[in-house]
Amino acid sequence: MPITIAIDGFSSCGKSTLAKDLAASMGYVYVDSGAMYRAVTLHFLRMSIDVNDADKVEQGLSDLRLDFRSEGTHQRVLLNGKIVEKELRSMAVNKLVSPVATLSNVRAELVRQQQYIGRNGGIVMDGRDIGTVVFPDAELKLFITADTQERVRRRVEELKRMGSPTPAKEVETNLSERDRIDSTRDDSPLRKAKGVVVIDNTNLTREEQAAMCLALAKHRA
Ligand code: DC
Repeated sequence: MPITIAIDGFSSCGKSTLAKDLAASMGYVYVDSGAMYRAVTLHFLRMSIDVNDADKVEQGLSDLRLDFRSEGTHQRVLLNGKIVEKELRSMAVNKLVSPVATLSNVRAELVRQQQYIGRNGGIVMDGRDIGTVVFPDAELKLFITADTQERVRRRVEELKRMGSPTPAKEVETNLSERDRIDSTRDDSPLRKAKGVVVIDNTNLTREEQAAMCLALAKHRA
């Protein structure tokens, strides 16, 4: 039976790398729920929607269309019919995405879509509330953490690869601020789900982490 694998944790802990590796090994679909929050944020930025204005947010949501395109085991998010991958990772989106993710109407809509996508199992989804809210009955729940400096180093590298080099100090401030907002918001704060397996990957290679989690997944499948 295909199972559901829920991965949560702080920003830039390597959740998506692990999720992709697990999906590839299990032949499952990988869904990056953070990309959905980022797509909503990009949409609001493009429409100049003030996230503190509830009416404008509601209107922005009604104009929003998210679609998914399968690429291998990865489901890419399309915003109003277009691939916007690079813009989703920009600093402008990084700065606004956590405030957007505090909005209950945004969360309700995205959780509904996530539960629909995962209704038949055979899915690996990563985010902040996947094991606690989206799939509380997931057969395998993982909580990923890593040392802050290591996370900053990884995000700085990612931004450099994308052609948007950003000073480490700015990246660190943004990560800390996002972690603070994500963990303290009223609606679905980042928490360790019941029955979760906690993994600190600061000193693990990608392969070690994947092997460890694959063993857990196979045990539960
Ligand atoms: O995983 P990420 O860095 O791409 O996520 C971007 C933001 O979206 C993050 O700061 C918190 C929010 N998020 C969330 O609230 N719930 C999720 N399931 C996924 C992401």
